[in-house]
Amino acid sequence: MYSSAPRFVQGHSRTTGLRCSHRETAMIKFVKCDCGFIVRSDNEDVLVAGLQKHARDHHHMDFSREQVRAMAQVEPDRTTPVPTNADRLRPRFVHNEEQAMATAQTAATFDVAKYKQTTRAQWQDAAHAWNAWGTFLRRWLGPASEIMLDMAGVGPGARVLDVAAGAGDQTLQIAARLGAHGRVLATDIAPAILEFAAANARAAGFRNVETRAMDGEELDVPPASFDAVVSRVGLIYFPDKQRALAGMKRALKPGGRVAAIVYSTPERNGFFSVPVSIIRRRANLPSPLPGQPGPFSLGAPGVLEAALRQAGFRDVQVRAVAAPLEMESTEECLRFERESFGALHQMLSSLDESARTAAWQEIAAALRQFESGGRFVGPCELLVAAGTR
Ligand SMILES: C[S@@+](CC[C@H](N)C(=O)[O-])C[C@H]1O[C@@H](n2cnc3c(N)ncnc32)[C@H](O)[C@@H]1O
Repeated sequence: MYSSAPRFVQGHSRTTGLRCSHRETAMIKFVKCDCGFIVRSDNEDVLVAGLQKHARDHHHMDFSREQVRAMAQVEPDRTTPVPTNADRLRPRFVHNEEQAMATAQTAATFDVAKYKQTTRAQWQDAAHAWNAWGTFLRRWLGPASEIMLDMAGVGPGARVLDVAAGAGDQTLQIAARLGAHGRVLATDIAPAILEFAAANARAAGFRNVETRAMDGEELDVPPASFDAVVSRVGLIYFPDKQRALAGMKRALKPGGRVAAIVYSTPERNGFFSVPVSIIRRRANLPSPLPGQPGPFSLGAPGVLEAALRQAGFRDVQVRAVAAPLEMESTEECLRFERESFGALHQMLSSLDESARTAAWQEIAAALRQFESGGRFVGPCELLVAAGTR
């Protein structure tokens, strides 16, 4: 049973000619649940029915039509949000036209095929750097990865699928657990980064590692053939997480375990949210809609758990794990993010050279808040989750 009730948020936008591509008289309504699910329509019946079904299917809660209507009602003269923690069922109203408009436009223009192409290209380009930072990645993400592998039940002789494996750092941790009779298949959308995974496995003397380029949303593996499927900071970049989770479930033997690591909230991941928000402001980019891919897309309380349950996994567990980035200096962190996080460059691409330089300077100054006593400690909290097929 899902432990917390959904809270609903509604925003509306009336088109005002040039500012929006929707019909001039259209009123687009968004009703969003805290878990990230969003219903979008100009038809109230569709909104109400969509929310009722969502609350029933995913939160095991039944709401009458009147309750849903009351939760999603807009009070036209209110200009400030009215959330109260005391009453979690009370809606929060968003009357910020700009915000609603940005959301509407993002929703209308998100192109999955183009996004995938860009993601692949980014990681093809960042492959060398991500691999070069391998020693740091092991120090930073290694302990959480061991927790993920424990939660997935990875042990000697197991058959493991590693999705969005990158340069294979966690693949090597898996291989070390499996022994001669187990096997791990490392997959990733970017072939160049997987070449590093294969080379690293060879160099470490592992013969139980295979690699295959593959979109994590279109897992091309025999059904019911793995004891465990894992993904470390990969799922967050998938536009259709339910599709990916369904594929992972299909790949698992009955009783097999899925496990994943994602970032939690922006507030707890300053090392990344600080650069992202500076770039977003300077490049005038809207925040991703709930459900759309992004570093914090599964990080809000309950979202990852709900996603796993929705995909049909049972015995779902989620653990928050502190994973601070401990580095020599702000400059080292800046170098890591500039070299390895291709998405930041992509977000900056609309700016000219001097504006990009200014953005990196502002990021450096802002990241300096995490430096003291000659050490840099960047805040990072991971969620490690697992479930059983
Ligand atoms: C932050 S890296 C993590 C790599 C590795 N798991 C690690 O923790 O070192 C994210 C990886 O996700 C991969 N990725 C992004 N979208 C993907 C998709 N749709 N299918 C498979 N891999 C994807 C990228 O190519 C990249 O290697």
